[in-house]
Amino acid sequence: MTHATDTRPLVVHGARALSGRVQVPGDKSISHRSLIFGGLAIGETVITGLLEGEDVINTAKAMRAMGADVTKEGAVWVVRGRGTGGLTQPPEAIDFGNSGTGVRLMMGVIAGHPISVSVTGDASLSRRPMGRVLTPLQSMGLEIDPTGAATLPLTLKGSSELIPVEYELPVASAQVKSAVLLAGLMTRGTTTVIEPVATRDHTERMLTFFGADISVTESTHGAGRRISLTGPAELRGQPVRVPGDPSSAAFLAAAAVIVEGSDILIENVLTNPSRIGFYTTLQEMGADLSFENAREAGGEPVADIRVRASALRGIKVPADRAPSMIDEYPVLAAVAAFAEGETRMEGLRELRVKESDRLAATSDGLTRNGVENRIDGDDLIVRGSPQPHGGGTVETQLDHRIAMAFAVLGLGTERPITIDDTAPIATSFPQFLDLFGGLGANFDLKEPAA
Ligand code: S3P
Repeated sequence: MTHATDTRPLVVHGARALSGRVQVPGDKSISHRSLIFGGLAIGETVITGLLEGEDVINTAKAMRAMGADVTKEGAVWVVRGRGTGGLTQPPEAIDFGNSGTGVRLMMGVIAGHPISVSVTGDASLSRRPMGRVLTPLQSMGLEIDPTGAATLPLTLKGSSELIPVEYELPVASAQVKSAVLLAGLMTRGTTTVIEPVATRDHTERMLTFFGADISVTESTHGAGRRISLTGPAELRGQPVRVPGDPSSAAFLAAAAVIVEGSDILIENVLTNPSRIGFYTTLQEMGADLSFENAREAGGEPVADIRVRASALRGIKVPADRAPSMIDEYPVLAAVAAFAEGETRMEGLRELRVKESDRLAATSDGLTRNGVENRIDGDDLIVRGSPQPHGGGTVETQLDHRIAMAFAVLGLGTERPITIDDTAPIATSFPQFLDLFGGLGANFDLKEPAA
């Protein structure tokens, strides 16, 4: 286990107006990738704004254990890489803690090296499906012990002679896409991934920036893409400036929308179109939300997001928007609790295999706090009211986003909400409690319970 075994309960009281300027920590997806690509590159990768959450730190440790030189020098992180195919056998098992992105991307990296690596994770990660990544990697030549295993712990035996594949993703997952492309870096020939629905494209953008030979074409039918990469690739270290994480900023935007009188500016947030479905949805619900000072930083679009308290109406959120807001549904459900009428969020099947079964955990947390909701197949339907009751205790289930989403709900409910454990928040947003406190939230953090 990488995060504290002590649980830290939190009682959230109704808040007065939140106001001020804030900066959220660096984007988690780009942070993981900058460490991994830096470790596979020749030369130095200097990273500014890296998210120093537990998930990303575990990836840094994994890269170090496999021979990359990863150090923090003042405010920046510096990775001195080993070149593609140059990583080495780690001395012991690698523990990825709570991080699905870390372990799944690293499975692609391990696959392309002639090394044997045992990988473990916490109770949440050990329940999550790994077959979706292992299946394509096995077809390229990765060996798995025990044979047929699809959950952690397991041991992976990579190879320097992988076979290139053309793989069509059965699920819309940037993690699976990225794992196959990472293995492709070390594979002679052209590895192709076809995604039926476009998912976050940081791997494609960043690998291009690091010098890989990669081509992306839009699918002739549907909303998907075809991504081809020719290996073995030679990557060169690059400077990376990590923009603010839109998935973390979502908690602030949601809080500002629901707490009367609020007016905040969230600075320097990544606005890559494959990540901003939540903000589009808030606008459709009637939120007073705008993107200001739109610009480009480090190859990604960024902007400052201005959000004010708003009267909201329930809407239908289409299934094809899910990949661009996959991590934001718990907090959208909290927002929907304040909207007039019903919000129907469609196509949430993937939520069942996140850090918890997020569909069930979200519905359960709402029910415990008097918010009318139901699950209909893969859809979540929430009926809002001007002031939901609150008063319940939410079971976090080792899921940072469940903890943060219900902390946001508690800012606007009639009675305080208790979050049973805030420790998981440190995996992605260690400053969450301080930052909300600074804006005026009334958070009462309890002493650790053993
Ligand atoms: C991520 C992809 C998403 C997301 C996760 C980060 C990534 O997972 O939920 O937090 O960085 O590639 P899936 O690709 O499994 O949907």
